[in-house]
Amino acid sequence: MPIVSFPPNFLWGCATASYQIEGAWDEDGKGESIWDRFSHTEGKILNGDTGDVACDHYHRYKEDVALMKELGLKSYRFSISWPRIFPTGKPPLNRKGLDFYSKLVDELLANDILPFPTLYHWDLPQALQDQGGWANRDTAQRFAEYANTIAERLGDRVKRWIIFNEPWVFTILGYLAGIHPPGIRDASMALRTTHIANLAQGLAARAMRATNKVEGLGTAFSMSGFYPASQSEEDRAAAERRFRFNNLWFLEPAQNGRYPDAYLGGTDPARFGVQPGDMETVQAGLDFIGINLYSRSVIAYDPQDANLGARDVHVEDAERCKFGWEVYPEAIHDVIMRIWHDYRRPIYITENGASYEDVVDKQGQVNDPQRVSFLQRYIAQVARAVEEGADVRGYYLWSLMDNFEWGFGYSQRFGIVYVDYPTQRRIIKQSGHWYRNTIAKNGYQY
Ligand code: FCB
Repeated sequence: MPIVSFPPNFLWGCATASYQIEGAWDEDGKGESIWDRFSHTEGKILNGDTGDVACDHYHRYKEDVALMKELGLKSYRFSISWPRIFPTGKPPLNRKGLDFYSKLVDELLANDILPFPTLYHWDLPQALQDQGGWANRDTAQRFAEYANTIAERLGDRVKRWIIFNEPWVFTILGYLAGIHPPGIRDASMALRTTHIANLAQGLAARAMRATNKVEGLGTAFSMSGFYPASQSEEDRAAAERRFRFNNLWFLEPAQNGRYPDAYLGGTDPARFGVQPGDMETVQAGLDFIGINLYSRSVIAYDPQDANLGARDVHVEDAERCKFGWEVYPEAIHDVIMRIWHDYRRPIYITENGASYEDVVDKQGQVNDPQRVSFLQRYIAQVARAVEEGADVRGYYLWSLMDNFEWGFGYSQRFGIVYVDYPTQRRIIKQSGHWYRNTIAKNGYQY
């Protein structure tokens, strides 16, 4: 039975995001977000689900903080909805929207739970989308203005912030794959949005630090292990290009002021709309690195792909969660070690978890042994990275409770707390009890 243990003061937490849990989509002066618009458009979300009510967290936040306390969480990662603060994306400020987050922060602190907010987890004000969204350079300025306001108003109580959640996802899935809002499929526009998001990250970091209230800034990057399909030179080079494109596209500019060399035949910054001075602006100089990691990808060289020269290879008979993602615990270790080695910044695992087919049994309990096993094996790999010297400061499980899983609506349950949507009743799953014990003992045996 392996014993897994963590250093004292390791931050155990859970993560959520505003649109996925809050509901109250048009209450107290909140503006429309691109996810409101998208989910209200027929055919965009599985089963026509929307985040209009979600987990009703906007009204039940006290009950939910009590649940976090019961689980023994040391910290809570949540996101702030930009259109609650600035309904049209820019001043004037909506007082009631800000009050909600201010009260949430107070409630967390009163329960000894460290707030770890994300400024942007995808719910852009629709009014800014109407002006081009992330394809419009002005959005970067608007984001910096919003970031400065939040740091100014909550910075007396919140010291550590996450700027973006998964910039790769909201640009590439929104503007290239078209499965997130605004639902556009345009490769060259998509590349330009990635550059504008990088500008926004750099501008926001400066605007937040200008308040003199910030102690730590980072971004939660979507990362994955990339492994070559064979040991051939071509496959290995292809896997490396995908690692750089998926994992480093927003980190390398922030830390080193350049785009990673990911493209076959080189990367020409002119393709992204880079203007003079931009590569200084993008340098956010992050204090820590957030890693969201769930799975891995196996990559083969593909000359048909003119950009990255790579394709995903489907792994037969692999263990998968209900979402279809392969369960591959070593990936979290391998990615942490690479990022630690190359960037030497403290690391937080800002998301990790899995969806399974959870049901409430006759006794009213939810037994999810597969999720317990998933967590045991992944967290053991985080501990392994810590033992090997990586400075990993915390682990945030995705998610505190079942919620609106974007294009898949309520069909995917990622929580360690079950949500019965018709009644909004919360039931701590077996994995939630396991997590509470793990936090209490700062480790586990399995
Ligand atoms: C991540 C997102 C998060 C959640 C999980 C399952 O990509 O950041 O909101 O949807 O996936």
